[in-house]
Amino acid sequence: MDKLVDELIDRAKEVLKNSYAPYSGVHVAVAVYTDKGNVYLGVNVENASYGLTICAERSAISSMITHGERKPLIVVIVTDQDKPIPPCGACRQVIAEFNPKAKIVMYSVKSGEKIIRGLDELFPDPFKL
Ligand code: THU
Repeated sequence: MDKLVDELIDRAKEVLKNSYAPYSGVHVAVAVYTDKGNVYLGVNVENASYGLTICAERSAISSMITHGERKPLIVVIVTDQDKPIPPCGACRQVIAEFNPKAKIVMYSVKSGEKIIRGLDELFPDPFKL
């Protein structure tokens, strides 16, 4: 599992440079690993109309859905900030839609620090219909 997580961190690092974050300067890349063993990538995409910004997590989850998959097992969040960043509340809800027990890995390329949590720890009571 450690080896897989490190590979997923490497995959996210490869696209971190493509993050479009001219307003905040916070660059984020995500690798989603699914139950079928595939990996989907995403980066944050900011906009001059700030509220239209798309987080890297939702970008990667959208790619997973686009490719016909439904179950993220591991969501790796890589940033260039000093510390690893946790997923925002909206992204927690979006990940929980597909797997409330997903493993969330947070990694800072700057410090090398890695934090691993269950989504059920970070977001125990998702809204459901
Ligand atoms: N951001 C993400 O991509 N994921 C998160 O979970 C937290 C925030 C991005 C959005 C915005 O482009 C920048 O970080 C600063 O908020």
